[in-house]
Amino acid sequence: MPARHTLAGTPWPAHPARHTLAGTPWPAHPGRHTLAGTPGSAGFATAGIPLSIGPDPGRASVQANGRGLGETVPVPATHPLPLRRVAFDYPDDWTANWIPAKPEFAYAANSVSLLMPFAEPLFIKACNAYLPELDPPLRERTVDFARQETQHYTQHSKVNKMLEEQYPGLVRVERWMDRTARWVWNKRSHRFALAFSAGGETTAYGVARWAEKHMGELFDGADPVTTTLFMWHLAEEVEHKSACWDVYEAVDGSRLRYAWAMVVGMLMLGWFTWLGTFVMLWQDHRFFRPVTWFRMVRWSLSLAFDLIPTMVISATPHHHPNQFTDPLYLTTFLSQFDSETGTMPLWQGPTIDVGDAGADEPQ
Ligand SMILES: [Fe+2]
Ligand SMILES: [Fe+2]
Repeated sequence: MPARHTLAGTPWPAHPARHTLAGTPWPAHPGRHTLAGTPGSAGFATAGIPLSIGPDPGRASVQANGRGLGETVPVPATHPLPLRRVAFDYPDDWTANWIPAKPEFAYAANSVSLLMPFAEPLFIKACNAYLPELDPPLRERTVDFARQETQHYTQHSKVNKMLEEQYPGLVRVERWMDRTARWVWNKRSHRFALAFSAGGETTAYGVARWAEKHMGELFDGADPVTTTLFMWHLAEEVEHKSACWDVYEAVDGSRLRYAWAMVVGMLMLGWFTWLGTFVMLWQDHRFFRPVTWFRMVRWSLSLAFDLIPTMVISATPHHHPNQFTDPLYLTTFLSQFDSETGTMPLWQGPTIDVGDAGADEPQ
């Protein structure tokens, strides 16, 4: 059954914290090693400069070339944003409850998926509106950003079709999403739409970091294909975390507009995530279960505690998204993409049989 095997034939490690994808032991304490000579993870514009990464890679500050955080010069990132054409082959019996142990999280993720074909075209339009004003390298990178986003919402649309069949009530939610996206584009200024998009990209980066930290809990026993869809998307969100910001900085840069638009965007994301989740939980008769509410509130608070500081920091003067550390696991995952075959390892949850790799683990 294809869903149970990696696309490239390589098993995905069950314990990412301790193993590299290629099977080489991962340093036990990444915080104590310097990645000297490494071109740097995707977001840093400091290629070739040793990066020292703190004890918690997800939160560590980055010191590049001896500069502290406050001294780092914000510059547009220049690394390429490759187009990875990935086809996801979902099992015939695919269900919206693709994380059987955590249906509420599957529904929340589904709701985010529903939003993508409305949010991401808006981000593309907002950036493209300023293409003629950008210098050639940034223009080229913005085009690449648009290509990545197009891939994302195209792939999410396929999942969304299956969701609509299983939960017809979601079609109405999608209509509201569409109306909201149109409101941002038609009723607000293009500068606001661009700030909204830059804020949306920061939010996506924050969500990626949070998801990586909690992936063991959240995706345990999940359908590997659907999980891979989300991991691939989140990993590319990390990769292009500064793309929209650089356009915004080039044409506007107002931190006030950015902060306001980002808060509006986050409230919309939260509202639609809850709304879509509500529709699926209601149809499943799960809405009034205490465990449902316990999990939903716990995850929402956990995400908020992680996301809000990221958003606040991103809105401070002189801050640039390059100063945010890339989550290592997602970045490594993305590096496994094989451009020749158009495949990448299929994400496997911790419940798979890992053979020798798991032999020393307590049962
Ligand atoms: Fe995206
Ligand atoms: Fe994005």
